[in-house]
Amino acid sequence: MNIEGKVALITGAGHVKGIGYAIVRQLLGKRVKGVGILDINDENGREVLDILQNEFGEHRVIYVNCDVTSKTDLEGAFEKVKTHFGRLDIVCNNAGIQNEVNWELTLNINLMGTIRGTYLALEHMGVNYGGRGGIVINTASIAGERKDLPIL
Ligand SMILES: NC(=O)c1ccc[n+]([C@@H]2O[C@H](COP(=O)([O-])OP(=O)(O)OC[C@H]3O[C@@H](n4cnc5c(N)ncnc54)[C@H](O)[C@@H]3O)[C@@H](O)[C@H]2O)c1
Repeated sequence: MNIEGKVALITGAGHVKGIGYAIVRQLLGKRVKGVGILDINDENGREVLDILQNEFGEHRVIYVNCDVTSKTDLEGAFEKVKTHFGRLDIVCNNAGIQNEVNWELTLNINLMGTIRGTYLALEHMGVNYGGRGGIVINTASIAGERKDLPIL
């Protein structure tokens, strides 16, 4: 698939050892026009922004502070990325935590954040909304497919 010239938005990509950051590197290496990184952790976000801008060019990556549990944050971040790069083609809902104790927060980020991001992707890219279509990628886990995991 040719993604040259496309624009991507990815949540939870602000960690150098994370899956989101690895996805961003792949996208930039495949010559997308730009990537908007959304994360809640500004210190880490600025670190990855610095690395990526040095390596791939300062005009190809932006960082936006965004808490995916906040509809307002997410809406603002989508607007920012689309306005900055002039288009939006790929949305990757990747932000996630693993916290069985605070399961409400976990669901709010991992499940609801993904659904919020998917609906916003439809509104910003969907042909039914006057857009030109796009791609939504939701990071999940192979653990969801396994039947042999112990119940806590
Ligand atoms: N690492 C694994 O083995 C593994 C396995 C299966 C699935 N996953 C899933 O892959 C995704 C990425 O995991 P990872 O291992 O790269 O984790 P990670 O902790 O390295 O990265 C997750 C990022 O999400 C950000 N984040 C957390 N809460 C947020 C919020 N409310 N709003 C915005 N950003 C927020 C964090 O700051 C962090 O940068 C997650 O959805 C996770 O559930 C990971």
